[in-house]
Amino acid sequence: MTETIAREIRALLKERNAILLAHNYQRPEIQDIADLTGDSLELSIKAAKTDADVIVFCGVHFMAETASIVSPDKTVLMPRRDTGCPMADMITPEALQARLAELGEMPVVTYVNSPASVKAHSTICCTSANAVAVVNSLAEDEILMTPDRNLCQYVASKTTKKIHCWAGYCPIHDRLSTGEVLNAKAVHPEALFIAHPECRPEVLALADAVLSTSGMLDFAKHSVHRSFIVGTEEGLIYPLQKANPNKSFYRASDAMVCEDMKRTTLEDVLRAIRTMTYEVKVADKVCRRASKAVERMLEVSGR
Ligand code: 13P
Ligand code: SF4
Repeated sequence: MTETIAREIRALLKERNAILLAHNYQRPEIQDIADLTGDSLELSIKAAKTDADVIVFCGVHFMAETASIVSPDKTVLMPRRDTGCPMADMITPEALQARLAELGEMPVVTYVNSPASVKAHSTICCTSANAVAVVNSLAEDEILMTPDRNLCQYVASKTTKKIHCWAGYCPIHDRLSTGEVLNAKAVHPEALFIAHPECRPEVLALADAVLSTSGMLDFAKHSVHRSFIVGTEEGLIYPLQKANPNKSFYRASDAMVCEDMKRTTLEDVLRAIRTMTYEVKVADKVCRRASKAVERMLEVSGR
C-alpha cells in the first residue's frame, strides 16, 4: 500500500516538475520519499535553489511561507492546512510594533519560526543553526530577538550584545525538564546529551552540544562517541538512526512530540500533488519586506 502511494507520488512529482521537501521531524515514510530533507535553514536554501516549478512542503506553515518568500515565482503547496507552529502564533506584527515603541528603535532578529508578517517587520531572520552569527553580524549592541525566549537566552549567553527576548517558546522543547535529562543520563551514563536551543537554559546547561536538527545529524555522524541522548522532537531519531546504524540514540523524554509535524501523511501528499492544493502564497508587499530579512540572513550564512 505504502509503496503504491509512494510510486504514485513520485510519478506525479515528475509530471508536474515538482520537488518534495521534508523537515527532519516528519514521519519516517515522508522523509523516505522526500527529494530533500533538512533543518529550517537548509530547507529555505534548498527551496531557493531548486529549478522545480512546484515545491511540496512537508513541515509546518511558516516553513512553506519561507519557501514562498524565497521562491515567489514557484507554486508552494502544503499537503495539509492545519499544520501550524504554536511558537510562531505567539507573536503578531502589531505586538512587535508595540514592544518596539516601549523599548525604542533597535534591530529585530526574528527566528524563522514566525509568521511572514512578523518577518516583514524584522531587520534580519535567523534559524537555530545561525542565530549567534546573525546577532554578531549586526553593528548595533542592543537587539530585540523574537519569538523564542529560549533561543534568545542561549544566544545572549554567547554574545556581548544586550538582547531583549520576546516571551514565546516551543511547547515541545520547553517541556523538557532537567529531571528527565538527569534520569536519561543515569540510565545511559556513556551517552552524550545533545540538545536543541529551543530547550530551556537549565536543560542546555546539561548538554554536551547545543545544535539545530541538522547540526545534530552532522555531530552524531562525525563523533567518536557511540551513543546519544537526543533533546529535540522525537522525529529526529529516525534519520539519526538511519544514518548511523551502529550508534544508539535515546529520547531525552517521551513527551517531545510535535503533533503539527506529525499530521502530514503520504495520502495527504498524494492528494496535494494530484489536486495542486493547498497553495501557500505570501502577499506581495509582505513578501518583498520579509524577503529582505531572509536574504540578509542567507548572506550571513554565506549561501
Ligand atoms: P531546526 O530544524 O531548524 O533545528 O528547527 C527545529 C524546529 O523546531 C522546527 O520547527
Ligand atoms: Fe513549532 Fe516546536 Fe513544532 Fe517546531 S517543534 S514546529 S517550533 S511547535
